[in-house]
Amino acid sequence: MWATSPAIAAFMLSAYTVAEFCSTTCTSAEVPTGTPIAGDYDGYLRPQVHFSPPRGFMNDPNGLHRSDDGTWHLYYQYNPTDTVAGNQHWGHATSPDLYSWTNQPIALYPVNASSFIFTGSAVTDPNNTSGFFPDQQDGVVAIYTIATYEPIELQTQAIAYSRDGGYTFTPYDNNPVLDAGSSNFRDPKVVWYEDHWVMVVAFSQEFVMAIYTSPDLKSWTHASNFTQYGLLGLQYECPNLVEIPIDGEEGQSTWMMFVSINPGAPLGGSTSWYTLGDFDGYTFTPHANDIHFPDWSKDAYAAQFFYNTPGEAVLVNWASNWQYTNAVPTGPKEEWRSSMGQARRISIKQDPRLGAIAASEPYDMSPVVDEELASDTFGNGSLVIDFADVYSNAVLIEMNVTNLEVLAGSVNYTFLSPISGEYLTGGVLFNGNNDIWQDRSHIKGFEHPLFTGKLSTAQIIDDTFTMQVVFDRTLIETYIQDGLQASTSTFFPEEPLTILSVKAGGYGASNTTTSVRVRSLKSVWRPQEDDAGIVSGGYAKNMTSGHNSQRYSAGWQ
Ligand code: FRU
Repeated sequence: MWATSPAIAAFMLSAYTVAEFCSTTCTSAEVPTGTPIAGDYDGYLRPQVHFSPPRGFMNDPNGLHRSDDGTWHLYYQYNPTDTVAGNQHWGHATSPDLYSWTNQPIALYPVNASSFIFTGSAVTDPNNTSGFFPDQQDGVVAIYTIATYEPIELQTQAIAYSRDGGYTFTPYDNNPVLDAGSSNFRDPKVVWYEDHWVMVVAFSQEFVMAIYTSPDLKSWTHASNFTQYGLLGLQYECPNLVEIPIDGEEGQSTWMMFVSINPGAPLGGSTSWYTLGDFDGYTFTPHANDIHFPDWSKDAYAAQFFYNTPGEAVLVNWASNWQYTNAVPTGPKEEWRSSMGQARRISIKQDPRLGAIAASEPYDMSPVVDEELASDTFGNGSLVIDFADVYSNAVLIEMNVTNLEVLAGSVNYTFLSPISGEYLTGGVLFNGNNDIWQDRSHIKGFEHPLFTGKLSTAQIIDDTFTMQVVFDRTLIETYIQDGLQASTSTFFPEEPLTILSVKAGGYGASNTTTSVRVRSLKSVWRPQEDDAGIVSGGYAKNMTSGHNSQRYSAGWQ
């Protein structure tokens, strides 16, 4: 989102808004430290199997890592004092399974009144390469951008360490660890490579992904640049340089450079692309002169891969788009804005036309899959269910079409509100290119000139087609052909969508068969609600250690 002068202006405006907010509705309010912010997760716009912040505004996932004890840590760009971007902290939540999240106290705070904590990553340091962890194996180091806007605009890279497993952090005394004198130098993502640390970080407006190496996370040496590649948009943001397993080939992997660009996406605003290649610990070399979009819709941005997931690659997207994120209706209605996309397992698979590409599949959904609501198999036919009594208002649809030797016909799904008549619909046309589409333009709760209604892609298939649809109040994700294509779309109805119909037909062969199964999803938030319906979150263990002594924040009462 950051761009030189207009964004500085936006941030100053947002800082001003905070001050103004506090002068009218809070006097000496502080952003809470050492305790999570409570939130109401009951509103009809709140996703129930996705993460969203308790209150305030969220954007990029940050610091994603898995502890050796199996806990998944999600930090995120967080404005705890308003429902628009600005006043960036690192919010924090933890999960045993990537679905059920416990809100934790804010993990990183701006250190003074003229800077913010921007996007970054986190690593575990079991071998104490950093020297911060003489007597423990579960040390965590966060590597992030400090964005300063006074006295000069500057973005530098800093580190902070956690001795309590990632709950509280102490900024390093000698920050910043990397200062290139640039006002657009941000979003460091760090991984371990054989015997050293590797950081990829963007010089956003010069379209450079810079690679640095370090023995200790404190001193960094420039190794190479990957530059002016692929779709530039107007800025590169949030690069990831990660190893992706090859599906079905135990122990085999390839490297991926994954980049987010904003603005300048073909569909408008924010998007991400990746290219596959080789990495020797210092230089990334793409295999071919190509890029791919990991998501064909408009609401998957700033993805980050988790650190410390041996044998698998798992990412989380921010499920929004800078074009309209500050305007969506959850802010005024429910006092929070933005969700994370579902955690996705990424692996290299073969596409019939494109060859090796990175497929996205939902991370194991068994913790949230509940009852079967319907299942059927037919040639031409349909299935209609009323799921108004499913508390979560969230469902999983799995569709399988077999014997598609003749490409003709279609499969559609439609979610409808019987109260307002609004509906969300999508499907596939088996026409050779096999156009896959989605239409959110008949949903009435949000109108915005850039909130594109109709979206589509195409997919070469053999004789079978598979699609999974994860529907969750205001978020819909699709996974096609075992993840060869994926999409993430937000939608904001005036009333909950509670009727689902799936229709198939017009096939060119009499033995083409459609199987459909619909299951409800459990609410991950409801079990955490107190009697007043409020989710209070968890508490960091050992809150006395590792505290950030300097904080600057103002916020909700
Ligand atoms: C991407 C981004 C990052 C930046 C952060 C600020 O969405 O603009 O480049 O670090 O958001 O919140």
